[in-house]
Amino acid sequence: MTPGKFITFEGGEGAGKSTQVTRLAAALRAQGIEPVLTREPGGAPGAEEIRALLVQGSPSRWAPMTEALLHCAARSDHLELTILPALRQGRWVISDRFADSTMAYQGYGHELGRAPIESLHRVVVGDLAPHLTLILDIPVAEGLKRATLRAGKDNRYERMDVAFHERLRRGFLEIAALEPGRCVVVNAARDVDAVAADVWAAVQSRLLAKG
Ligand code: TMP
Repeated sequence: MTPGKFITFEGGEGAGKSTQVTRLAAALRAQGIEPVLTREPGGAPGAEEIRALLVQGSPSRWAPMTEALLHCAARSDHLELTILPALRQGRWVISDRFADSTMAYQGYGHELGRAPIESLHRVVVGDLAPHLTLILDIPVAEGLKRATLRAGKDNRYERMDVAFHERLRRGFLEIAALEPGRCVVVNAARDVDAVAADVWAAVQSRLLAKG
């Protein structure tokens, strides 16, 4: 068992994850906890190189299974080099996306199905699970609009069709329904402060209150 806490943020495009990671980190610092902030795909040198392969180029650049394997390859380095060492030191780790994104985007969005993704997770992640996963939920049209307005952060997933984004949104909600002990769905179609308040309430009740 690892002594640190592992928190992940998940959600579709334009849900505001990075803003909420920053807000949660500030709230934790005010409690004397300096978290390690990281992201997927990426979070380790080789994983950041794989990220470029995944987020740049045409939406049809990869076959769905290739894409799933690339995300898992990046995750393996991220776990070995960043997440596990930090947790072993007792640090709190906040990751902007983790394994649920592969289930939602590749399993549901690209329709690979749950079973193959679960098999990949068993190999790559094993029995490590985040202590808390915050799923920021926003209607697809609203999220894609926000993502488009965000300067200089275009990625190939944002250019996939609306049906793909509807499937992955449903995927995240199904993941949350299957694992209510780990996942909290937050309505992200509200202002930043309201979302941050819900995130903080979840962290307080589920992690800080329990020590
Ligand atoms: P983001 O950093 O803006 O969230 O971009 C990363 C993109 O990669 C995002 O569109 C979701 C996608 N992604 C997957 O499709 N599968 C995964 O396993 C992960 C971690 C991300």
